[in-house]
Amino acid sequence: MLAKQLGLFEEFGKTGTCPEPQTLSVGAGQAPYLHVAGDIPLDLPSGALLSIARKQPLSIYLLGFQPAKTIPEIPRWFLQAYASLPSTVLDPFSGSGTTIIEALRFGASVYWLDYHPLSRLICRVKTTTFAALEVLEESFDILRKSSRQKHAPETVHFANKDFWFQEPVQEGLEILREHILRSRAANQPVLWLALASTVRKTSNMNDGMLLAARRPHIEKIPKRSRDDVFRYFKMYLDKAIAAIAEWQSCVGDAPVRATELPLQDARALGGDWTCDAVVTSPPYINAIDYVWASKFELHWLGLVNNDEDRLNLYLREIGTERIPRSEYRELGQTGHEELDPLIEDIYRARWYRASGEQNQLRARVVYKYFTDMRKHFVSAYSKLRPGGFYCFSVGDVSRICGVEVPVASILSELACEVGFLEKFRFNLLLKNRKLNVPRNVNWAGTIKHDTTVVLEKPAK
Ligand SMILES: C[S@@+](CC[C@H](N)C(=O)[O-])C[C@H]1O[C@@H](n2cnc3c(N)ncnc32)[C@H](O)[C@@H]1O
Repeated sequence: MLAKQLGLFEEFGKTGTCPEPQTLSVGAGQAPYLHVAGDIPLDLPSGALLSIARKQPLSIYLLGFQPAKTIPEIPRWFLQAYASLPSTVLDPFSGSGTTIIEALRFGASVYWLDYHPLSRLICRVKTTTFAALEVLEESFDILRKSSRQKHAPETVHFANKDFWFQEPVQEGLEILREHILRSRAANQPVLWLALASTVRKTSNMNDGMLLAARRPHIEKIPKRSRDDVFRYFKMYLDKAIAAIAEWQSCVGDAPVRATELPLQDARALGGDWTCDAVVTSPPYINAIDYVWASKFELHWLGLVNNDEDRLNLYLREIGTERIPRSEYRELGQTGHEELDPLIEDIYRARWYRASGEQNQLRARVVYKYFTDMRKHFVSAYSKLRPGGFYCFSVGDVSRICGVEVPVASILSELACEVGFLEKFRFNLLLKNRKLNVPRNVNWAGTIKHDTTVVLEKPAK
């Protein structure tokens, strides 16, 4: 209703209707893939290899930068196949909130957390009911005042800022920041999210570039003005409001039953709460460095205070590659029969010698990733009710220094060591995923499938 009043869907080419769960259909299977249109069938055989022709998702899923978004069809399938209401779902690696949205659509309550401040902002925006008209009015006010303002403060400092942001862009961003900070607290999250997209777009990175690494493209970046910054801010804000209004029209007036846990580390899930299911997509070993990829947003939005503060985020990141030399020179052993020889192969460069000490570092990244994920499984197990399910999706195999690491299978085995039982799994062919970008390094390969595994905590 609100969306219609605002004319938002027309503007952004959306239908304005909340899609109903789709009727499932399995196309003529071209071996070895089961080709599926729309949702994942509930009668899927375990071990299936799937390829999905996806329907246009709700815009809310697309909102917010996250290099490894899950497709909503996976949590949707799990919830329909395994959950019954009332249900409380946990996503301990919430990212851009795909599971949260899906669980809310299903009618469940949700607990969520993520160590990354930008992810937390995105999830807060998606789980807060905004007065869209009021945000729009406030944004007009901000833009009017911003375009009249002569003086730009200088409050944001980080390494290489001048290389990545032209002077008029810096001024425009500073002015917008100043006005957002003065705006009504209730409206701020969505304004910050629009600023986050503006920061990325007006930086000297090319469209589609994920990491701010110095490249020769820089001469080709057009000169930008303050007005360009304001124009992009308006565009992203309109998009965000349209997505939120579409989403709010789906949930109606029902209270949003999503709770951000006061925790920022999935390895230590403390507190007085339990859940009926965990539905998540944990970090990938070879994923994009999310702290680096979101460096500009972290600083311009004041989500970190300085460079050191940003680098400290790596301490909590599962899958981090920022490991001190003194630590990675040591060969880590997990006690897992299949994993330890793989770590040793990487460490001793048995299949591929990378430059410098990359082999030792990569071996430690793998060791640390699985050790951290085991800690997470122990913690999640204690929070899941007996008889509850844990569903995760992750890249099936990562190739590291020529060594194929069967990530999904090893994660499932580690979870089973903790007490879970594997009930089901399927593989999904990845298409057009940002995560799957070809890498310009030889020690890592791209991920071709996502494996989804369903585990059960025995009822005792
Ligand atoms: C694959 S992404 C999740 C994507 C999400 N399902 C979505 O659709 O947007 C993994 C997430 O784990 C988060 N993460 C990494 N280490 C973490 C930790 N120790 N505790 C909590 N979250 C962590 C990352 O910030 C990232 O958002």
